[in-house]
Amino acid sequence: MNVLGFESSCDETGVALVSTRAVGTPLLRAHALYSQVQMHAAYGGVVPELASRDHIRRVLPLTRQVLQEAGATLAEVDVVAFTRGPGLAGALLVGAGVACALAAALGKPVLGVHHLEGHLLSPFLSDDAPAFPFVALLVSGGHTQLMRVDAVGQYRLLGESIDDAAGEAFDKSAKLMGLGYPGGPALSQLAASGRPDAYALPRPLLHSGNLDFSFAGLKTAVLTQHRKLGQAPTANQLADLAASTQDAIVEVLVKKSLAALKLTGLSRLVVSGGVGANTELRRQLDEAARRRSFRVHYPELELCTDNGAMIALAAAMRLQSGAALASSDYAFDVRPRWPLDAIDRVDSAGPVRIVS
Ligand code: KG4
Ligand code: ZN
Repeated sequence: MNVLGFESSCDETGVALVSTRAVGTPLLRAHALYSQVQMHAAYGGVVPELASRDHIRRVLPLTRQVLQEAGATLAEVDVVAFTRGPGLAGALLVGAGVACALAAALGKPVLGVHHLEGHLLSPFLSDDAPAFPFVALLVSGGHTQLMRVDAVGQYRLLGESIDDAAGEAFDKSAKLMGLGYPGGPALSQLAASGRPDAYALPRPLLHSGNLDFSFAGLKTAVLTQHRKLGQAPTANQLADLAASTQDAIVEVLVKKSLAALKLTGLSRLVVSGGVGANTELRRQLDEAARRRSFRVHYPELELCTDNGAMIALAAAMRLQSGAALASSDYAFDVRPRWPLDAIDRVDSAGPVRIVS
């Protein structure tokens, strides 16, 4: 089965082709990505209307590129997948519209995929693929969640951020430090030359006794500390603040992940989403894994942030495992707000047709 997948939930247009195999994870035949980061950087954040328009411009050329690189034709596509949510409504509608129009023209079924499920399953495309069950630390720009994952489609939320996501904490801290958008990679790069213990920043909910997160207070503490540095902080001061901010975020993520492993009794952790690209997070988790004898799995670096490969993969894995059926109704809707654990509830009565 060949699945063509489209991702357009935010500021990256992604297209990919995956093929299922008799044994093992589906094979990624080719994927292509266009990032709108430069366009939005001028505004200091994503402008939804511009994002939608740019997805329209990019999606068909990227599709041609993917098919060419895979040495495949549209006639070989069996299912068309798209990100159904969560994300920006207009941006999602572009991917959904293109996917359904293409599928209708080809006479093939479609499947709407949960964006976070794409992230969550993306480590299956790495050389060191995980096995079920595992604890997933999902750290994207809009979500910070710990989940227990028993199989495709079986996700139980263990804890999540009650306010800002870790990615937002990176982005907002970076913005107020004048590092531009998106802040995560910039802040992390600056942090490499700073001292993580230079400034005492809060570790919100670290000892809350549950697996929830809170990062809104941290951003305020970073703002206060930045103001104290005055109008013209030195490069060293900024690097120290970046390193201290990153250390606060990473420490909370690592300790809560360890608590989740302990609570569930599982010995496998899967990290995914944009913040999963953070070098310091990976270093600290790898170190903890060695000390405490658990396994930790990441997506390939290029598949940490949004991409089409994870959407095509999630669709293929759902179809293969019987967790979903593709639909030929083409009556697509999108779900800008869509909790991942709601997939469970929808699917509990058996496979569903993803239609409005
Ligand atoms: O998963 P993603 O690409 O998009 C969403 O689904 O939200 O995640 C984007 C987030 C942004 O907040 C970005 O700043 C953060 O991931 N990010 C990083 C790094 N690379 C991306 N944060 C920290 N360190 C990084 N290296
Ligand atoms: Zn994402």
